[in-house]
Amino acid sequence: MEIEMKVDTVQPDVKPAVTSGAKPIVKVEQVGQSFKTRQGSFVALRDIALDIYPGEVVTLIGHSGCGKSTLLNLIAGLALPTRGVLLCDNREITGPGPERAVVFQNHSLLPWMTCFGNVMLAVERVFGRKERKSKLDARVHAALDMVHMAHAAEKYPHEISGGMKQRVGIARAFAMEPRILLMDEPFGALDALTRASLQDELNGVLAKTGATAVMVTHDVDEAVLLSDRIVMMTNGPAATIGEIVMVDLLRPRDRVALANDPQFAAYRATVFEFLYRKQPQKTV
Ligand SMILES: Nc1ncnc2c1ncn2[C@@H]1O[C@H](COP(=O)(O)OP(=O)(O)OP(=O)(O)O)[C@@H](O)[C@H]1O
Ligand SMILES: [Mg+2]
Repeated sequence: MEIEMKVDTVQPDVKPAVTSGAKPIVKVEQVGQSFKTRQGSFVALRDIALDIYPGEVVTLIGHSGCGKSTLLNLIAGLALPTRGVLLCDNREITGPGPERAVVFQNHSLLPWMTCFGNVMLAVERVFGRKERKSKLDARVHAALDMVHMAHAAEKYPHEISGGMKQRVGIARAFAMEPRILLMDEPFGALDALTRASLQDELNGVLAKTGATAVMVTHDVDEAVLLSDRIVMMTNGPAATIGEIVMVDLLRPRDRVALANDPQFAAYRATVFEFLYRKQPQKTV
């Protein structure tokens, strides 16, 4: 039985809905986040307003400590904002949910389960009540196949490389068929070449499935290569959205073809300008 991985109804190579009047999947409305610390209250984020549309890939970029993970965690429902409100499909986000699957930097696979078992856990959680075992199995196999990990289904996490673990983490998230995929530096722990090939794979999968995704990154090339919009955050404390760049290049994008593309270079330059001229990292 063939299960097609589909996260959203948007077709590949369609422009993000940001300009087409479609309803946003996620709305972040005037959100602020403070933390209680021993020194008092620390304002991490202020006045964050952001709508995320079906089929869009949005990256959050900014210097270390500016609040990218804090914002992603709020969308994931792993924390609640101290100000404002976040909505997913018009319902307030009050906790985590299967419609918002998260890929973490460290993959977070359970070490005592095989790759198949790790993905099945998520699949059972979402579809276990309504689908037969054979269909659940097919879902897991389709997800592993999508990230070229079918051959490693019966391996345990300690038996595979960091890049392969990350692939399984991505398969697990896609297998849940979430409304939106949230990724916090999914390739941050990988070497440059593995990172590049995983970026290319993710690029292909995102375009093929028409998935909606928000990804945190430090990497300017990664942001331009993968996203429709780059949300550039100011430095903290009290960080907010500084500027947003629309990346008007068809997806999936070919890194070799884009290497000499002046439009690609111009997007990179805009992000570098923001990060290193307008918001230079403070030296401690
Ligand atoms: N639970 C917490 N308690 C207190 N302060 C926190 C807490 N979580 C985050 N912070 C602070 O909020 C700010 C934003 O943190 P966050 O982890 O979101 O940054 P980031 O942009 O993801 O950084 P990095 O790129 O290094 O991952 C930082 O100053 C951090 O120290
Ligand atoms: Mg972070």
